Amino acid sequence: MSAESSEKSILLIVDDNPVNLGAIADFLDEAGFEVLVARDGESAIQKVKYAQPDLILLDVMMPGIDGFETCYKLKSDPSTKDIPVIFMTSLSDRVDKVKGLNLGAVDYITKPFQQDEVLARVKSQLKLYNLTKIMQQQNLLLKREVEDRVAAEISLQKLTQELEKRVEERTSELKQTMQELQQAQSYLVHKEKMSALGQLVAGVAHEINNPVSFIAGNLSHAEGYIKSLIEHLSLYQQKFPEPGEEIESHAEKIELGYLIEDLPNLISSLKTGTDRIHQISVSLRNFSRADTTVKVSVNIHEGIDSTLLILKHRLKAKANRPPIQMIKEYGELPPVECYAGQINQVFMNIIANAIDAIEEMEYGNPTIRIRTEVSQNKDIAVIRIQDNGMGIAPEVKARIFEPLFTTKAVGKGTGLGLSISRQIVVEKHGGDLSCISAPGQGTEFVITLPVKS
Ligand SMILES: Nc1ncnc2c1ncn2[C@@H]1O[C@H](COP(=O)(O)OP(=O)(O)OP(=O)(O)O)[C@@H](O)[C@H]1O
Ligand SMILES: [Mg+2]
Repeated sequence: MSAESSEKSILLIVDDNPVNLGAIADFLDEAGFEVLVARDGESAIQKVKYAQPDLILLDVMMPGIDGFETCYKLKSDPSTKDIPVIFMTSLSDRVDKVKGLNLGAVDYITKPFQQDEVLARVKSQLKLYNLTKIMQQQNLLLKREVEDRVAAEISLQKLTQELEKRVEERTSELKQTMQELQQAQSYLVHKEKMSALGQLVAGVAHEINNPVSFIAGNLSHAEGYIKSLIEHLSLYQQKFPEPGEEIESHAEKIELGYLIEDLPNLISSLKTGTDRIHQISVSLRNFSRADTTVKVSVNIHEGIDSTLLILKHRLKAKANRPPIQMIKEYGELPPVECYAGQINQVFMNIIANAIDAIEEMEYGNPTIRIRTEVSQNKDIAVIRIQDNGMGIAPEVKARIFEPLFTTKAVGKGTGLGLSISRQIVVEKHGGDLSCISAPGQGTEFVITLPVKS
C-alpha cells in the first residue's frame, strides 16, 4: 500500500445541515473520493462501523449527540479509534477547539469552506493516515519477524542441547565399549597366562616323572643288591676272620662297620626323596588338570595342597618377616564335581592375595588358615581361606570383585584374580564366593561349591 492509494479513499461527512452536506459531498466526490454521508452522530457511528472510512469530517454543532460526543465514542471503540477525524465548525460557532483536539481530532476546517484548503487538509490527513497504517503494518511484520527469530533461536538451542546430549550419550557408550574391550583383552591375557602356567607345570611334572620312576625302580634293585653284597661280605668275615694287614687297614680307613650300618638308612632316605618327588609331580599334574570340557569328581584337599606346593616358595621367611605359617583344618569333604583346574586357579588367586596382604604388614606371626567342611545336608563344600594380613577397608571391599580393580602397584596386580575367581565359582559351578574383612582384622574368603553340579 502506498501513501496515495490507487483505490479511492472513503470519506464520511457528517452534518445536520443538508445544504452544507450536499456542497462538500459533491465537491469531494468530484475531487475523486468515495463519499458517504450521515445526518447525525448516531447514524455516523453506525456507518463508520461497517464502512470503515479512511477519514471523517464531523460537524461539531448537531442536534442529538454533538460532534464532540460522537468523536469521543468513535475514539473509545478500538475498531474505529484510529480513523482520523476532522471537525467542521462555522466561524460563528464558539467552540472550544482545544477540547476537540484533546478528544483525538486531527484538524479543524471552517465553514464556509475554502475548497482548496479543505482538499489540502483532507489529502494531508489521508496521507498521514495511510502512512500510519503502513507503519503499523510494518511494525507488525517486524514484530512477527522478531518472534520468528526468537522461535528459531529457541529451536536452535533445543537442537544444540539435543545434539550435546547425543554426543554425550555416544561418548559414554564408546567409553563403555572401550572398557569392555579392555576387560575382554585382560581376561584373555590372564587366561593365556594361566593356561601357559598350567602347560608349564604339566610339562615339568611329566619330565620329572620319567627319571623319578627310573630312579625309584632302580633303587629297590640297588637295595637288594646292596643287601646281598653285605651278606656276602659278612660271610667272608666269618670264614676269614683275619684277612691280613692290607684288608684290615682299608676296612678301618673306609669305616666299614659304620658304612654297613648306615647304608640301609641312606637307601631308605633316597626312597623317601623319590617318593616326595613323585608326589610333587602328581600334585603338579593335579593342579594343571586339563579338564576344561567335563566336570570330574575330585578331592578338594588335593587341589589345595597342590596349589600350596606351587606357592610354597612364597611362604618361606623373607628379610622382613618370618615364614608364613599354614594351618590346615581339613574337615570330611566328599569328592566335589567340578572343573578341577579352574577351582585350583581360584585357590591360587585367593591364597596369593592372602600372601600379598600379609606382605603389606610387618609383624611377628603371619598366618594363613585354611578350613574346610561340608554343609549339614552334605551337599555343599565350604572352603575358608583366612589371613591375618592388613584387612580391607569398606570402600575397597565394595569393589574387589570388579574386573581390573586393584590396589596393587602398577605391573604387580592385574585386578582380575577375584573377578575371574567369582566367575568360576558362581557362573561355572553355581557356588558362591564372599569376603569377610575389616582393616587390621585380616581377611577371610569363603568359597562354597555344590558337591554335585
Ligand atoms: N586377602 C586380602 N587382603 C587384603 N586385600 C585383599 C585381599 N584379597 C584381595 N584384596 C584386595 O582386592 C583387590 C583385588 O584383588 P584381585 O585378586 O582381584 O586383584 P589383584 O590381586 O590386585 O591383582 P591380580 O590378582 O591380578 O594379581 C586387591 O588389589 C586388594 O586390594
Ligand atoms: Mg590377586
